[in-house]
Amino acid sequence: MHRPDKIQAMDYAERPPRDALTLVRPEVHDALEGLSRAGAEDRGAVFTRPEVVRRMLDWLGYTPEHDLRGFRLLEPCFGGGEFLLEALERLLAAHFDRGGSARNADGLEGCLRGVELHRESHGQVIHKVINRLAKLGITRRLAAHLAHTWLVQGDFLLADLGGNGSPAHGGAGFTHVVGNPPYLRLERVPPALLAEYRRRYPTFRHRADLYVPFFERGLRLLAPGGRLAYLCTDRWMKNRYGQPLRRLIAEGYRLERYADLKGEQPFQHAVTAYPAVTVITRAEEPHPGTEVAGREGRWVRVGPEATPPDGPWLLELGAGFERLREWERRFPALEEAGCRVGIGVASGADAVLVRPADLDVEEDRKLPLLLAADVRSGSVAWSGRVLVNPFDAEGRLVDLARYPRLRAYLEAHRPALERRYVARKRPEQWFRTLDRVDPALRHTPKLLIPDLAGRPIVVLEEGRYYPHHNLYWVTSSAWPLPALQAVLRSPVAALFVRAYSVEMRGGYHRYQAQTLRRIRLPRWPELPEEIRRDLASGAARLQQRALARVYGL
Ligand SMILES: C[S@@+](CC[C@H](N)C(=O)[O-])C[C@H]1O[C@@H](n2cnc3c(N)ncnc32)[C@H](O)[C@@H]1O
Repeated sequence: MHRPDKIQAMDYAERPPRDALTLVRPEVHDALEGLSRAGAEDRGAVFTRPEVVRRMLDWLGYTPEHDLRGFRLLEPCFGGGEFLLEALERLLAAHFDRGGSARNADGLEGCLRGVELHRESHGQVIHKVINRLAKLGITRRLAAHLAHTWLVQGDFLLADLGGNGSPAHGGAGFTHVVGNPPYLRLERVPPALLAEYRRRYPTFRHRADLYVPFFERGLRLLAPGGRLAYLCTDRWMKNRYGQPLRRLIAEGYRLERYADLKGEQPFQHAVTAYPAVTVITRAEEPHPGTEVAGREGRWVRVGPEATPPDGPWLLELGAGFERLREWERRFPALEEAGCRVGIGVASGADAVLVRPADLDVEEDRKLPLLLAADVRSGSVAWSGRVLVNPFDAEGRLVDLARYPRLRAYLEAHRPALERRYVARKRPEQWFRTLDRVDPALRHTPKLLIPDLAGRPIVVLEEGRYYPHHNLYWVTSSAWPLPALQAVLRSPVAALFVRAYSVEMRGGYHRYQAQTLRRIRLPRWPELPEEIRRDLASGAARLQQRALARVYGL
C-alpha cells in the first residue's frame, strides 16, 4: 500500500544529516569528521542512568505542572538520547494534557534542541523520536520534520545554533539546558580543534577538560532567568583550571543547587569521575545562596560566601564547615599573619641533578636536598641526596670555568640537560635548574609538608637542608615554628585542606601552596600570653588545649 507520509519520513532520514557547523578551517573540519565516527572513548561518551535523568529534569523545573510548550530546552550532546527522550515525553504530556493534538504538534518545533557529534548516535535518536511521535498519531512527515528540526548533528562548541540559540524564538536563548558533557582530557582533543575551542572560549584555559567550554557555551545560550543542569565531574569547582568558569558564573549567574553524587553511580557504566550535579541560573539579582543536597533528600542552604568569585567553592556540608566559615570571618590568612609559603626546587632532570652526596663535584656545589620521602615518617631522615647546585650565594649562575669538576660532570650529561625546555629557551643557561635556588632558604628554619598525603605531615627542619619540589615550605617571622607546626598538624588545618583541595583517589589530599595559604590563624601578638606559651611549648597536650581555646573546638 502506498504510504506517502512514510516515504517522506524515509526521505528525511536518509538525507545527509543537517550539518550545523559554522564555516571552519579544513583541519578543524577533518578533525570533526574523524570524531563524528570515532569510538566512545575518543568522544568522551558515558551515558546517564534514566533515574538520574528524571531527577535532574525535576531539579531543573522541567516538569509537567508547567506548560512546557512555552520553554526551550537544549541538550548539548545527547548521545543515546536519555535526556532528550525524557524531555520529549514530558513535553508531549504537557501538550496533550492542555488540549493539544497530533495535528497541531508542529507548534512544538521551537521547544527542543539537541546536538550530537556522533553521526550514528544522531541517526539512532532521530529514528527513536520519529517512532515515538508516530505512535501518538503524529504523521510520519511531521514527525520527521520535528525530529530533524530538533536534533542537530555537529559540534556543540562550533555549531551555529542561530543567534542566541533559538531562531524559532527570535534568538532569545534557551530556558533550560540539560546534559552530561563529554569528559575528555586535553591530550585527547585533536590539536586543530583545541586551538579553535581555545580561540572561542575564554574559560578554556590551563589544563581544563573539554567539559569546561561546554559549561561556558551552555551558560551563554541561556535566556535571562534560564537554568542549566549538568551532571559532570566536580573538579572545576575547586581547582585552578576551573577559576575562569567560576568567575564567569559569579558575573551573571549563580549556583542554585549542588548535589554530590560520589556516593552513587549515575552513569550506565562504572567510571571514576567524582560526579556532581550543578544547577546554575542566569540571574543578575543578589545571590540568595545555594541549596546543597544533604541526607535523605533534604536540601540545606549555604550562603553566597560558599561560592566566592575568586576562590575554590566550599559546598560540603557539616558542622565542621560552618566553623571553617566562621574562622574565615575572624582570622587572617596564613601569609597575612606573618608566614610565607613556597615550594622546593624542581631541577627538570633529577636523574642528573639530584645525586648521592659522594658525587665527584666541588663540595660547595652540593646542596643537601630533602625529598618528600625523607620526611614521610614525620621527622627528618635525610637520604643523603644533594642537588647539583648551579647557583652561587647571590643567586646567580656560577661560572663553570671556576668549577672544573662540576663542568666535567655537567658536560658528560649535556644532551640530557639540553633537552629540557628551560635550556632550549636559554641555551647559555643549559645547566640551570628549572627553579632558581634561594641561597637563604637552606639556612632558614622551616616547616616542610609533602605535597600529597592522607594526613597532614608537618616536619620542623632547623635550617640544614633545601627542599625538593614535592615539598612545600612554610617560614615565619611572627609565629614560633613549634606553635605554627601545631596549627598545621591540627584538625583545623586538615579541614581547610579538605575544603579547598580536590580529593584524590584513596582519600589523599594535595597540600599545595594555594591550599596552605587559605589556612586561617590569629596574629601571634594578639593571642593571650598563656595560649602563646602553651602553643610554643612543643608539648602536644598543652598545644591541643590551646588550639581548642583559639578555634573554639
Ligand atoms: C558524556 S556523553 C553524554 C551523553 C548523554 N548526554 C547522556 O548523558 O547520556 C557525551 C556525549 O557528547 C558527545 N560529544 C563529544 N564531543 C562533542 C561535541 N563537541 N559536540 C557535541 N557532542 C559531542 C559524545 O559523542 C557523547 O555522546
